[in-house]
Amino acid sequence: MANQRDVIIACDFKCADETIQFLDKLTRIRDEVVSCDDFRIGAARPYVKIGMELFYAEGPDMIKLLKKRGHKVFLDLKLHDIPNTVKKAMQVIGGYGVDMVNVHAAGGIEMMKAAKEGLMLGAARYADKPKLIAVTQLTSTDEKTLHNELLIDRPMNEVVRQYALNTKAAGLDGVVCSAYEAAEIHEACGTDFLTITPGIRFADNSTDDQKRVMTPAQAKLEGSDYIVVGRSITAAERPIDAYTRCREEFL
Ligand code: C5P
Repeated sequence: MANQRDVIIACDFKCADETIQFLDKLTRIRDEVVSCDDFRIGAARPYVKIGMELFYAEGPDMIKLLKKRGHKVFLDLKLHDIPNTVKKAMQVIGGYGVDMVNVHAAGGIEMMKAAKEGLMLGAARYADKPKLIAVTQLTSTDEKTLHNELLIDRPMNEVVRQYALNTKAAGLDGVVCSAYEAAEIHEACGTDFLTITPGIRFADNSTDDQKRVMTPAQAKLEGSDYIVVGRSITAAERPIDAYTRCREEFL
């Protein structure tokens, strides 16, 4: 079966008010919060990613609010600790009703297996299970850092490939990677293994601080399953147009 594909908006805002203001502007819908006991119902709004800054500022209430408003939520906290600690933390996160969450593959296969176990325990009451993915190498790490600071002698693409294979061996759903690596990862780990790719820009956008960028259309050709798009949408004059353009190019 073909993977589900989607555009995920990186909501890199510092507080709930800013986030909701943006999402209201995006959807132009100021509807009432969906009133239902199960806040996972009603995923009619864009898929959003919330990261450490917003989560540490607002806590789990932020996730509940987004779920009530019908958004799918990727919680980007990149856990990395001993297996037991990660398992317990993931059990808590599973209870939030998130749709996707991640760990660092550098924590090893045992840690990733423990993360999955904890997440599934926490999410036991949800029919729709959250996806668990891993970060291979941060895009801010280059080969020089890899060799001189981390003392890893192998080329970056070999390291990324091995970390992706470890992620698959641990039973996780996929990896966060550059769209430039998506095809190689699918070749190594299979087409049903998910590639979630940030670093997306329209052809006429500034690249900001991203080093290797790709358009949504190119990312589609490379086989990305989900693109994570921040400033190209959040900083656009008309975010709804930018979001629509992303969907048209990528889906
Ligand atoms: O604004 P921009 O589209 O560059 O945002 C990309 C998002 O993806 C940010 O939230 C960033 O933290 C995240 N990300 C990334 N590179 C990675 C992992 C996550 O840009 N390797």
